[in-house]
Amino acid sequence: MRKPLIIGPFQAAIPAVEAGLAGYSDMAMRVVARRRGCPYAVTEALLDRVVITGGRAREKGLVLNDEDHPVAGQLLGSEADEMAAAAVILAEYGFDVVDLNFACPVKKVMGRCRGGYLLGDPDQAIAIMRAVRDAVRVPLTLKLRRGLNDSPQAADDFERIFDEAERLEFAAVAVHGRTVEQKYTGRADWDFIRRLKLRRPRMTLLGSGDIFCAADALRIYETAGVDGVWIARGAIGNPWIFSEFDALLRGESLPLPPRIFAQRAALLEHFTLAMEIYGEEQASRQMRKMGIKYSRLHPDGAAVWKSFIQVKSHADWERVLLEYYSIDGPGREQISVADAADLYNGCDSAGAAAA
Ligand SMILES: Cc1cc2nc3c(=O)[nH]c(=O)nc-3n(C[C@H](O)[C@H](O)[C@H](O)COP(=O)(O)O)c2cc1C
Repeated sequence: MRKPLIIGPFQAAIPAVEAGLAGYSDMAMRVVARRRGCPYAVTEALLDRVVITGGRAREKGLVLNDEDHPVAGQLLGSEADEMAAAAVILAEYGFDVVDLNFACPVKKVMGRCRGGYLLGDPDQAIAIMRAVRDAVRVPLTLKLRRGLNDSPQAADDFERIFDEAERLEFAAVAVHGRTVEQKYTGRADWDFIRRLKLRRPRMTLLGSGDIFCAADALRIYETAGVDGVWIARGAIGNPWIFSEFDALLRGESLPLPPRIFAQRAALLEHFTLAMEIYGEEQASRQMRKMGIKYSRLHPDGAAVWKSFIQVKSHADWERVLLEYYSIDGPGREQISVADAADLYNGCDSAGAAAA
């Protein structure tokens, strides 16, 4: 039942990728996940102009390390020439793949004719795809939602963009099963994704939406017949989701939740890597929101959550680890999808939530 996930020249050991997640999926989060089985990852959406003009935002957004491959750099923009110029820079920086985001529903992004706006402007979307294809040799991928909205026009626009991705030999397309106008309301439509795969069997298709745990990943993989699963909110604070998905794919039962010492190791690694990118002060801010997501796997989750939220320095972080993670013991069972959805209601505001 399991087939290799192939994205251009890359073959992923398990059919899963760590999603682009604004405010989260930096080198630190990606590397912590890779050390626990994640075979492929995507950066958060990077604004083409920031990539072109440089500065600190660019330097932090583009940090990679040797472990962080294969990795796709994801671009957000509205103009074909700027997207192409930014793609060239990503390739020069060592990104293995360039991903184009035509999915982000955030008002500010849409208002500037970027992200999900382009799903409703196929001429411009196609102009961007062609310009980027001409500019770089690395494989290209696309991030879409299932349409701008539920209108017949939106369905046609989606098909045109998908046609072009096939024509230009994009290596994969990830589809979030909500419309852009839906933002995060309702459930992701996995049946749309299933029907798409049946209609377009040649394209490597990554399914996205409502993957909160390894069992969800297995369900979309089996029911929608996708080539790979785009793991987004389910990977924040749970880098073990990849190896758990692997176990389920092998027909094994779900491994026990990570024990306290395994959690502590991941938390330590994550902070150390974040310091490499941001320095201590910004890493502490970044790790506050990561820590609270990790806390859901701790049996005393609510207290751990409260402690992480007050972290302002590396020393504060170590104090939380000393207090809650210095005695080994079982981790907390996976929470249900409904609880996870509640937990993540705040996600949109946590980063500059994209796509
Ligand atoms: C906080 C947040 C930030 C996101 N940032 C990005 C992004 O930068 N690029 C992208 O392609 N998708 C982004 N997404 C969308 C996710 O990658 C994913 O498609 C979506 O959350 C649906 O999957 P899920 O329900 O399993 O989380 C973001 C989602 C959230 C919640």
